[in-house]
Amino acid sequence: MIFVLQIKSKKLKNNNSILKEFLDNAFNLKSHLMGFFSMKESDLDEFLADAKMNLANSHPGDVLSDVSDFYSQIVGDRHVADLAAWHITSKDYIADTLKLQQSFSRDLVLDFGGGIGTHALANAMSSTVEKVFFVDINETNRNFVEYRANELGVEKKLAFCETIKDTQISKFDTVVCLDVLEHLADPASQIEIFNEIMNPNSIALFNWYFYKGENNEYPFHIDDTQIVESFFKTLQSNFLEVFHPILITTRAYKKIR
Ligand SMILES: C[S@@+](CC[C@H](N)C(=O)[O-])C[C@H]1O[C@@H](n2cnc3c(N)ncnc32)[C@H](O)[C@@H]1O
Repeated sequence: MIFVLQIKSKKLKNNNSILKEFLDNAFNLKSHLMGFFSMKESDLDEFLADAKMNLANSHPGDVLSDVSDFYSQIVGDRHVADLAAWHITSKDYIADTLKLQQSFSRDLVLDFGGGIGTHALANAMSSTVEKVFFVDINETNRNFVEYRANELGVEKKLAFCETIKDTQISKFDTVVCLDVLEHLADPASQIEIFNEIMNPNSIALFNWYFYKGENNEYPFHIDDTQIVESFFKTLQSNFLEVFHPILITTRAYKKIR
């Protein structure tokens, strides 16, 4: 019995220790980057430097006919670099989003557009979560997070899928969709899909940034007025906001009906 408890406690952590581990080393992010990309420590700075502009510069502009092609065909490992640099330099902000998900996450969790896995891995470490379905259109991201899950010993609590359909789950208790909606051609229809896969007691965590940036550093973000207006109409007709006290842009929602 003691042996079993020791095994469990190695992988399942309390909320404070999960936050501390993220703030200390972003769940060993640098060592995972080196291991996954077979990179020396001396190459890491170059990989992370200018990651944001490297990603922006790889966007082909208006010639891109299908928005999702950018993430599935073009970015390669550039999105991993961009997200890693962001999660390392903005760790207090990311930690607040982790704190928020700790107050809502339970049972079956969908992390849609999960990126480098910070939120999915933190959820997998939590005792209130049964399983996390990490969905991301980018194969490098999926493989990198699977590598990280194995390194952190939480692989049994995670599944990796390209689409929500691939999860084969009809209803999720928690939906996490952070910094993704502005990357979709039609964020309103994504909100309708989330509504369909939630129970009356499910909670969704959403944020968005429909802005291309002061210097076009986010050329891949959707900012079309009609698309954005349709998004807000759909959000407000399907979901009711659930108050939380953390001072960040991410909002918590439950279904209206
Ligand atoms: C800015 S990142 C956000 C990552 C993560 N949620 C975070 O907060 O760090 C956007 C992510 O959405 C993914 N993505 C873009 N379009 C997608 C789609 N249609 N389906 C699933 N994932 C998508 C990208 O591959 C990328 O990992």
